[in-house]
Amino acid sequence: MFKRVLYLLLLLLFTLLCEAAILRDSEQSSSKTCGYESCIKVDPNKLNVHIVPHSHDDVGWLKTVDQYYYGSRSLTQKAGVQYIIDSVIEALRRDPARKFIYVETAFLWKWWQRQDEKTKEEVKQLVNEGRLEIIGGAWSMNDEATTHYQSIIDHSTWGFRRLNDTLGECARPKIGWQIDPFGHSREQASLFAQFGFDGMFFGRLDFQDKYKRLKEKTAEFLWKASSSLGEKAYLFSVALFNNYSPPPGFCFDVLCSDDPLIDDPGSPDNNIEARIKVFYNYTMYQSRFYQTNNIIITMGGDFTYQQSEMYFMNLDKLIRYTNKIYGSEVNVFYSTPSCYLKSLNEAQISWPSKSDDFFPYSSDPHAFWTGFFTSRPTLKFFERMGNNFLQITKQLSVLSSQMDSEGLIHFKEAMGVMQHHDAVTGTEKQHVAADYARLLSASFAYGTEIVSKAVSQMVKKNPQIPDAEFHSCLLLNISSCVITESSGNFVVTLYNPASQPTSTYIRVPVTGNAYNVSDNSGSEIVTQLLPVPQFVRQTPGRNSNSTKELVFFAEIPPLGYRSFYVTELGELTAEEGEEMKPASVSAIENDLYTVSVNQAGNVVVKWKNMTLQVTQSFHYYEGMKGNNTAFAYRASGAYIFRPKESNVYNVSYSGSYKFYTGPVVNELHLTVNSYISQVVRVYKEEQKVEFDWVVGPIPIQDSIGREIITKYSSNLQSDGTFYTDSNGREMIKRRRNYRPSWNVTLEEPIAGNYYPVTAKIYLEDVEKKVRVSLLNDRAQGGTSMLDGELEVMLHRRLLNDDAFGVGEALNETAFGYGLVARGSHSLIAGRIQDLAGVALQEKTEAISLALRPWYLFTPAGGVTFHQWKARYFMKGSSLKSKLSKNVHILTLEPWKDDTILLRLEHLFEKDEAGALSQSATVNLLDLFANIEIISVRETSLGGNQWIEQMKRLQWQIDSNEVDDQPYTFTSINKTEEGAMEVVLNSMEIRTFIMTVKHT
Ligand SMILES: *[C@@H]1O[C@H](CO)[C@@H](O)[C@H](O)[C@H]1NC(C)=O
Ligand SMILES: [Zn+2]
Repeated sequence: MFKRVLYLLLLLLFTLLCEAAILRDSEQSSSKTCGYESCIKVDPNKLNVHIVPHSHDDVGWLKTVDQYYYGSRSLTQKAGVQYIIDSVIEALRRDPARKFIYVETAFLWKWWQRQDEKTKEEVKQLVNEGRLEIIGGAWSMNDEATTHYQSIIDHSTWGFRRLNDTLGECARPKIGWQIDPFGHSREQASLFAQFGFDGMFFGRLDFQDKYKRLKEKTAEFLWKASSSLGEKAYLFSVALFNNYSPPPGFCFDVLCSDDPLIDDPGSPDNNIEARIKVFYNYTMYQSRFYQTNNIIITMGGDFTYQQSEMYFMNLDKLIRYTNKIYGSEVNVFYSTPSCYLKSLNEAQISWPSKSDDFFPYSSDPHAFWTGFFTSRPTLKFFERMGNNFLQITKQLSVLSSQMDSEGLIHFKEAMGVMQHHDAVTGTEKQHVAADYARLLSASFAYGTEIVSKAVSQMVKKNPQIPDAEFHSCLLLNISSCVITESSGNFVVTLYNPASQPTSTYIRVPVTGNAYNVSDNSGSEIVTQLLPVPQFVRQTPGRNSNSTKELVFFAEIPPLGYRSFYVTELGELTAEEGEEMKPASVSAIENDLYTVSVNQAGNVVVKWKNMTLQVTQSFHYYEGMKGNNTAFAYRASGAYIFRPKESNVYNVSYSGSYKFYTGPVVNELHLTVNSYISQVVRVYKEEQKVEFDWVVGPIPIQDSIGREIITKYSSNLQSDGTFYTDSNGREMIKRRRNYRPSWNVTLEEPIAGNYYPVTAKIYLEDVEKKVRVSLLNDRAQGGTSMLDGELEVMLHRRLLNDDAFGVGEALNETAFGYGLVARGSHSLIAGRIQDLAGVALQEKTEAISLALRPWYLFTPAGGVTFHQWKARYFMKGSSLKSKLSKNVHILTLEPWKDDTILLRLEHLFEKDEAGALSQSATVNLLDLFANIEIISVRETSLGGNQWIEQMKRLQWQIDSNEVDDQPYTFTSINKTEEGAMEVVLNSMEIRTFIMTVKHT
């Protein structure tokens, strides 16, 4: 008896020891088997079929982010991300052969926070073993047409940071997974390469392009994503065969209705041989269109895997039986995009290349996804302002050492959500758009708190002085601000987030009759009062007494602030009285050009030093009504732009106009008709003409709706060519009715010529050597349908859905009326010989639109100007020395512990701006006035890998295609004089994590 007990005890002990040993083994191996090392060896003599289970989880679309996470509103869509991740982990646990990829860090993080330690460890283990692979990894799967590069970098960085902090190094994404965005930008590919990614998979490209690529086996290629960065921006890219769906008939998800695989030999429903044959045939068919003996098969879809076992159990069988029956020809196995990529890389063949982009995207001859470039114009502007204020919040967090702030994290995450391909795009349901706005508006409140605190700290002359309050006025875009309207005297402080001094025309809504403004020196500034136009005053929802705007010019120091004390005067001077009255002139002008209005109500701008005239006019398209029963019956909607019969209609002029002149600015207030009006501004010393447009409520009595555009027509010969930006960064050449990589047939001659204009569109006359550029304040669609003419879509209101899933017409209303949008265009013209001059003007304007100085208001109460000046600094900069004009501080944000993240960028392309395109050297120690840099380490663009560890797969390009110079990296140079120098080549961005001390 005793013996037996002892024996049992020994046995138990032995088992325990063994288990411990096994555990240790797997722990040891776990740290080494993620990434390419976890990949199964492919068979060189067979077709290798990489089965990739995945779930496409939109960060909001038909439901809000939270509704998708928790799975509420299941009648709208049966989708709950918490169930997906839970059940995937469970399914992976069951069988080590199974693999899964996860993409959206917004959801993964939400889920992670709600798990116990045991689950977290288990998930880490799965990641370490390469069974759960994180790809993409940004906060959301961002859109590529309407997003700004600064925001793409930011939300990717934040996603990567969360991944590294929680799951560790094995969770560092190596692959871009852009399977659903509606077309693909070159800048996105360039950024991916700079994140250290080895490749990118995508689903949506023009159907004609896709057909040709499959036919010619060029759906896998090397994307040369920057003409300035060369090899540094090469990205291997894969156009997927069947978007991101499984082969027809093989969706085993609970959301699908395809039959399961039934292998019971006795069952009359046994279907195994027949189904496996279909699958085998499909793999053979797909392989005909790709170059190697590998194919990737995506097994998943929107919100699939809520009951993972159902999918996996059938995939297990699919793999087992296909190998069993057709094993001499095919090798089927669970894989990941990175293992697929590795097998292509090892194939040792050369690949074709591409250097344009994938816009516009059309899914059928009548469906050009070019409407979303403009859809929801006010949400698009709010998003852009979100970036503007987020950068300010980040900078001021660093500059005032508010390093750990929950508010800032909320703000970053809200902006990450906004980048999603159904958020900033405007292709979500109305209630979801409202939820995005709610999220972002909460972030503005967090930001304001941080910014006020920082500025009140910064301006105090000594610590005993009471804090002054600094308030944001978030309704300045409708000329409304409670503080300026309700305080007689007030202080307006502007913070400039740009790295160069910004010259700006400060504009504050007021109610009084006359004002006097003093700057830091105490001298009175030249000001001007202008009426707020009636068409702005009547904006639905505007609840303001301001009838005037006080305008004055100032230069704000870089990364710095400047305050102005505004005193209300009792008496109106004679001049101010005059300024408020329309001037009896027939044109307004400055040294460079004159602005007048023609009989059709169009604005005519005539340059004085060039034979250039630009006429600006408004027009509209009528959407195709369509019932979506066939391609030819598509309706214009949130995604697609499809004008009826390709007609553009003139807006008939039924309004009136007035000119106002004064010492600061001359303005044209033009009402075109009942729903279109604008202010055109001519500043004394500015090259730009500013068009401040107001559009809405767009009439819908015709039950169709309208898409409103503006055209700038010039006498330039642009030869069918124009240029649009890629995510606000490099420019891409466009030609009307043309695609660089295939012979295009356009059945939609207008929509098919629309391109995303995130920041800029221009055209040139090579003979006259003149360029006309237009810069905008939010993403819009644009084109050039006639030589010399730029066209931009401003606003859309449509009563039909275009049947791409959103299920609602794009009919935005606010305060009981059709939505009114207000925005601005800056028109700049210049000579091409003076490349540096024009390019610098444009860049300066682009920065002043994207990174505007932020207005902060303080009611003066009883504090006089002299008292204010005695207590508070009225001007300051955090830059230690002037930066070269081609260098910009792209990011300055608190990182972890005592570190900050700094990004420096070179602003110009290789041949864009003469001397300014040359490389620049920056001494890091010379950057900040009150921050001492203790140590610096450079990282990849996403901040998640030390630069010296960043190694990317190398690919060979087809020999007949010209290769760029290899990219040469220069590390930080510590000079003998004690400087820390970094070199920035044209278009380069470099990222540093620095340990700092505030002095
Ligand atoms: C990633 O996280 C690990 C563990 O916290 C840390 O040691 C490492 O420095 C991080 N990597 C980067 C590039 O920040
Ligand atoms: Zn999607």
